[in-house]
Order: sequence, then structure tokens, then C-alpha cells
Amino acid sequence: MILLTGVTGKIGSETARQLLAKGARLRALVRDAAKAAELQAAGVELVVGDIADAGIVKRALAGVEKAFLLLPNGEQQEANEKQFTDLCVAAGVKHLVKMSSMEATATALTPIPRAHWAVEEYIRASGLAWTMVKPNFFMQNLLSSAKSIREQDRFSLPMGGGTTGMADARDIGAVCAEVLTGQGHAGKSYEITGPEVLTFDQVAARFSEVLGRKITYVPMPMDQFRERMTGVLKPWHLDAVCQLFQEIADIGLDHTTDTFRKLIGRDPIPLRQFIEDHIALFRT
Ligand SMILES: NC(=O)c1ccc[n+]([C@@H]2O[C@H](COP(=O)([O-])OP(=O)(O)OC[C@H]3O[C@@H](n4cnc5c(N)ncnc54)[C@H](OP(=O)(O)O)[C@@H]3O)[C@@H](O)[C@H]2O)c1
Repeated sequence: MILLTGVTGKIGSETARQLLAKGARLRALVRDAAKAAELQAAGVELVVGDIADAGIVKRALAGVEKAFLLLPNGEQQEANEKQFTDLCVAAGVKHLVKMSSMEATATALTPIPRAHWAVEEYIRASGLAWTMVKPNFFMQNLLSSAKSIREQDRFSLPMGGGTTGMADARDIGAVCAEVLTGQGHAGKSYEITGPEVLTFDQVAARFSEVLGRKITYVPMPMDQFRERMTGVLKPWHLDAVCQLFQEIADIGLDHTTDTFRKLIGRDPIPLRQFIEDHIALFRT
């Protein structure tokens, strides 16, 4: 039995879908059963509750061999993930797979990657077998710009001239599904990128090519982003996201990895394909 967290989100839903296709026995910890109704209908057992609730997590972990830990960023992420790790040890889980991020290193500069790294270190010291899945920026983040691309032929983000090696959530889900069912992944950290390093001007150019009309990237000043997101994100989270985006603007990413191809045996999905697959959202 595999326990999944985060199945109503971007990566967790893809991981669950691809594990179901492999015939895996799945249980999911969800906060809202209605959001996971399709997965339940497909045979996923649900345990309903918050990951901060140790009693619920204990119940969810009963009889579980492998667990997949994914939480969104926030002030409580590190504490909740460490508690989940302890509960995995207590429940006799054999292998814990953590969704981390490529920026999470011993020298990480900003709060979100630092929290991921702290949890990684905690898991490595726990005695559990572990695998860290460490992706770069998700292509699916661009879906939040779909309306402005559709209606104004432009999108605006506070990444300046920074670069990412953005990866499709479907590919990251494929990696998680492989790690949870395949052999030889214990003790490994997998840095996952898409096939190319792109500036956001180049991202706009890919949209222009696929959509057949000019799409422009308009860099947003960080102060304007902060103002726009105040009240949308909690203060700790907003500050951490601003620092992370500033790091992308200032440093960015200068390389891709071939980890995806080695693990899955095909090339990762390029941005052009992602745009084609979501074209109805971007067409006027
Ligand atoms: N976005 C990127 O570019 C990027 C890149 C690299 C790494 N990452 C990492 O990926 C993770 C986010 O993945 P994602 O984008 O797939 O997340 P997401 O779409 O925001 O989904 C979050 C999932 O976690 C569940 N959840 C939230 N709080 C919970 C709680 N207290 N108890 C139980 N479940 C809870 C949510 O359930 P509900 O439906 O109930 O809310 C949802 O299923 C973060 O750790 C981030 O650092 C992101």
C-alpha cells in the first residue's frame, strides 16, 4: 500500500493518475473528500483530515509500505513534514518519497528551499529509506497567466531576465510514480528539469509561435507583485515567494538535467507541447 499526500494538487494528482495506470494500491490523505471523488471512484482509499493532525496521519499510515510527502509552501510546511516523517518511522513505513525542489541545497538562500533542505536532512537522518524529487519551475505555473495571455496577449511576472528549466507536472508525476513503484531509487535525489533553459522572453516567443500571434512578457517590479499578492498569500508565504522569485530573476538556472530521460526513457515534454495541450485556455 502506498500513501499519497497532495493528490488534489498539480503534482499529486498526476502522480496518483500515473500510479493507478500501473495498478498500484493507493491510499490518499485529503482534506476534502469531494475533491478526490474521481480518484476514490478509480479505487483510491481516502482518509480525510489535515496533515497537522497526528491521529489522522497515524490512521492513514496503517499498513503502508511507501509514502509520498507533498505539501504546499507555508510557514508550517517544515514542521508538518518533520512530524509526518516521525509518524512514518513510528508506523514502520519502509520508504518515504519527498517532493522537494531543485533550489533546496545546503547553501539555499531563501526560506522555501531552506525549509525543503531542512526536511530533506531530517528525513536522511530518520533511518527511513528515502528519495527526494527535486524539480525546477512547473510549466503549470503559467496557467495562472492564461487569462492575460488570452485577453491581452501578454503576461507579467516578477522574474526579470531570469531563466528556468521549467518542467511539466505530468513529467514530474511520472517520476514520482516510477520512484514509488520501481527499484533502485532509495538514497537518490533526482533533479528534474524540462528539456531547455528559457528566459521568460523566450517563453513568450514559444507562446507566439504556437498561438500564431505576438505574446509579450512584461517583467513586473517585485514591489508591484508584493502589493498585488498582499492578502492573497499569508505574510510569511508572500515574503518567501518574493525572495524565491527574486532569486530566479538574479541567478536563475543555467543548465538542464538528463535525469528525467534516464528514469523514464523518453525526452521531457517541451514548453511548445505544454502550450498545445492547453491551447483552449490561451486562444482568444
Ligand atoms: N510550483 C513550482 O514551480 C515548484 C517547483 C519545485 C518544487 N515545488 C514544490 O512543490 C510543492 C507544491 O506542489 P503542487 O504545486 O503540486 O501543490 P498544490 O497544487 O498547491 O497542491 C497542494 C496539495 O497539498 C494539499 N494540502 C495542503 N495543505 C494540506 C494540509 N494541511 N493537509 C493535507 N493536505 C494538504 C492540498 O489539498 P487541498 O486541495 O485540500 O488544498 C493539495 O492537494 C511545494 O512543496 C513546492 O515547494 C514547486
